[in-house]
Amino acid sequence: MKELSNISLKPYNTFGIDAKARCLAEYESVEELQHLLQKYRDSRKLHIGGGSNLLFLNDFDGVILHSAILGVEVVEETDKDVVVKVGSGMVWDDLVAESIEHGWYGLENLSLIPGEVGASAVQNIGAYGAEAKDFIVSVELVDMANGECLKMKNEECEYAYRYSIFKSDALIGRYAVTHVCYRLSKVFVPHLEYGGLKKAVEACGIALDELTASRLRDIIIGTRNGKLPDPKVLGNAGSFFMNPIVDRVKFESLLAEYPGMPHYEVDDDRVKIPAGWLIEQSGWKGRRLGNAGVYEKQALVLVNHGGASGQDIVRLCETVRSDVSDKFGIDIHPEVNFIE
Ligand code: EPU
Repeated sequence: MKELSNISLKPYNTFGIDAKARCLAEYESVEELQHLLQKYRDSRKLHIGGGSNLLFLNDFDGVILHSAILGVEVVEETDKDVVVKVGSGMVWDDLVAESIEHGWYGLENLSLIPGEVGASAVQNIGAYGAEAKDFIVSVELVDMANGECLKMKNEECEYAYRYSIFKSDALIGRYAVTHVCYRLSKVFVPHLEYGGLKKAVEACGIALDELTASRLRDIIIGTRNGKLPDPKVLGNAGSFFMNPIVDRVKFESLLAEYPGMPHYEVDDDRVKIPAGWLIEQSGWKGRRLGNAGVYEKQALVLVNHGGASGQDIVRLCETVRSDVSDKFGIDIHPEVNFIE
């Protein structure tokens, strides 16, 4: 267990915002977490993961909790698949790498997403047509109010695009994730339908029947590195906005005006439009407002050019939202969690 007082949160959020916290406590087991919850029962608490989806708007007068529960344990195994129970503090991409090494497949498309295992279950992280929910069997939790343990099955988590019940108004901040169970396949089936992946594989000169999970992982890492800024160099939280989902009537009218508009079918009535495209069309790609900016290679990402405060990022966010709304009549919403 580790407890630090009066610290800068700069190393704990990938935006690199220099907010302060009264205390940061890290636990390595459920029992340690329960002890901390008892000790700090009267303090304001915030549970963080890798800090890759957070924006601190102010100093935090309370205790920041962080899981350092690690470990990957096989809890079920058949000829076809395994179920692994993973500690919430494990770095997500380490899990992806380790599972491929073991011959457990499915997570390849989620390579290099920043953050930790606990957040994968809260945020339902996703990329290249895959989402964490496709693999999650159950989530083990501790109630932050009374330290009680509980387990929720995938169906109970109400997963949707970048959403789970843990983000609902009723439950936000209520539970700490301690473990997540994922079902992974022993058979590798590449999913290349999304986001130009097939072209990227072909461009590497790899025939589809020769593609391995490990090579697909390398290709995805290469693609992401080409488009997304490294937080160690330029503070950011990955996609800042969610891709908006619009009804088909709205979509058809936009497509008539912008025939090249990229889009993804959601269902018969709804279509998803890339927020990055909307922002670029609104003239914001590569532009700055003070120390906050829109990344030059991917307009979906807001960056801290150095010394930006949380409020500076919010100012840019609101300006971009308002311009997108004026131009397209679409309201885009942040995916990043704002901490008041
Ligand atoms: N586009 C532009 N201009 C831009 C950015 C994108 O025109 O500045 C266009 C692209 O040309 C493309 C389309 O928008 O036609 C989609 O762009 P991209 O493939 O880069 O993916 P995305 O929809 O912007 C989503 C996820 C990413 C994930 C990628 C790949 C969301 C909010 N973001 O981005 O997730 O890596 O797909 O699957 O759903 C993250 O959550 O942090 C994240 C990076």
